[in-house]
Parts: sequence; structure tokens; C-alpha cells
Amino acid sequence: MKNNNSVVRKAVFPVAGLGSRFLPATKAQPKEMLPIVDKPLIQYAVEEAVAAGITDMVFITGRNKRAIEDHFDTAYELESELEAGGKTALLDLVRNAIPKNVNCIYIRQSAPLGLGHAVLCARPVIGDEPFAVLLADDFMDVDGGTKPVLAQMTDVFAREACSLLAVQDVPRSHTRQYGIVSVDPHEKNLARVNSIVEKPAPEVAPSTLAVVGRYVLTPTIFNYLEGLGQGAGGEIQLTDGIAALMQAEQVLAYRYAGMRYDCGSKLGYLKATVAMGLKHPAMGQDFAEYLEQIR
Ligand code: UTP
Repeated sequence: MKNNNSVVRKAVFPVAGLGSRFLPATKAQPKEMLPIVDKPLIQYAVEEAVAAGITDMVFITGRNKRAIEDHFDTAYELESELEAGGKTALLDLVRNAIPKNVNCIYIRQSAPLGLGHAVLCARPVIGDEPFAVLLADDFMDVDGGTKPVLAQMTDVFAREACSLLAVQDVPRSHTRQYGIVSVDPHEKNLARVNSIVEKPAPEVAPSTLAVVGRYVLTPTIFNYLEGLGQGAGGEIQLTDGIAALMQAEQVLAYRYAGMRYDCGSKLGYLKATVAMGLKHPAMGQDFAEYLEQIR
């Protein structure tokens, strides 16, 4: 069944996870506020949503997440200090964390019951519209000239009007870290999903095609999420909701163009920091020379 509404205006950012792989850094601050060079992960994700034309940002927050609300709000004291000091470039950075036409909406997930539950918490704000889900700890980088990943997906959604999952191939030994799909051939970067399973062991994984942290979903998903019990790891899994959705609607896997860094893991975070450090306009050159020196 196709959804007639082909414009995606709303995005959900589930940021209520514990971030236990990054303790103690995440004891009193969310992992989504960890910076890649000088910008927090959550701001990169919001910028990706803005580039896809999204205007309503729905953050599913939990304990210790106030820093995210503060980050996208006015910072009166800081702004007046910078203004008084004539630091206009820095003032611009602080003021323009988010464009003026963008709304930030915060919903509290009372307990970290799982990603599926976090997405379900957004239902009162999403209503009957298609929406995007971005996991900010999956940091997506694209080469100049390539559209950001979510914008690639909203373009596909405008044509296909069905749920889309961003996917990439992973080593078989890593399947336990992902939702894994099996697909039918469809077209170049798109394939119809015919099964999805959360964190399968390598021996039983139906393929090595892994779902990563970008989704465009039709609102029908909520009907399935609300009926779910605990799945893998005792959590209410978005994967299980998608598995049920597939029985009613077409779901497509989209092989995005771009590079993903798993910033929920220390190694992925370090790789992203090096990649973005090398690309940084002000210090990329010095950083490259430094890396050359220590090699
Ligand atoms: P992760 O599996 O990365 O869990 O969640 P986590 O708790 O953030 O990190 P670790 O594993 O303890 O280190 C995937 C995404 O889903 C969100 C997380 O914030 C992250 O963006 N999430 C997860 C929620 O918002 N609520 C939940 O109940 C669980």
C-alpha cells in the first residue's frame, strides 16, 4: 500500500539511550553531544535533516539529555559576552546552530525501553505523516557534490512513497551488531526487503546487508510498534515493528552513497574524528602534516 503524502517534513532523533559504550564520558552528558572536531554529533544529524527539507525536529530525550535542548536554544549570557567582545564569527556559530524556520520538539522517554519504543513516543507529534528517523551516533559523511544521505532518501521517498531503510554491507562476523535484511533485486541502489532480523548470529544471518541509522517510515509503523513486546536484548525493537510493517506495505532497502562512521563505538568515533579533522578548513593541513610525522 502506498502512502499518498510524499513530502517528509518531520524527523525523529532518538537520543534517550544510555551510551554505555562511552562511559564515563556519557555519565552526565548525552553521547550525541560528543564533538567530531568542533561540532556535536547531534548538530551534524540535524543539519542533514535540514538539508533534506525537514522543518520539525522531534528529539526523544531521557535523563541527562538537557544539554541537547540547551544546544539548540538561545544562550543569552554567552551571546552577550561574545557580542560585547566583538567576536562576530563565533556569535554566528552560536546563534545559527539551527535555522530560524526549524521547530525543535522534545519528548521524554521515561525509561530506555528500546529504539522501537523511542520512535513510538513520537507518535503524538508525527500523526499521520511519513517521517525520518536519524540515529545521530551513525555519522554520515558524503563527498562534495553528493547529496547528504537523508536527502538522497527523501528523493527516493518522493518517487516510491514507501518506507526506506539505509543499508550497507558489513563483514559477516559483525551481523550481531545490526538489524540484517534479506532483499529481492529491485533497481540499482534499491531493493525490496523480504525479511529483517535484529542482531542475528553470523551463522544464521540471512545476509550481510545491515540497516544503519537512517530511515524514512510511513506512519503505519506506529500501529505495529504499539503492539510489540520485548525483543532482542529485552528491548522493544524498531526492527520488529518493521518486520510487521512489511507484511502490510512494501519496505525498500536503500544503498546510500557516502561513508558511515559508527560513533556509538570508540573506534568508529576515532575514525570519524580523523576523517573530519583532515577535512577541516582551518586545521586540516596541519593535522595531515602531524599524522604524517607520527606515522
Ligand atoms: P544504541 O543501541 O546505540 O544504545 O541505541 P545506546 O544506549 O545509545 O548506547 P550503548 O549501546 O549503551 O553504548 C541506538 C539509538 O537508539 C537510541 C539511542 O540514543 C541511539 O541513538 N535509543 C535506544 C533510545 O532513544 N531509547 C532507547 O530506549 C534505546
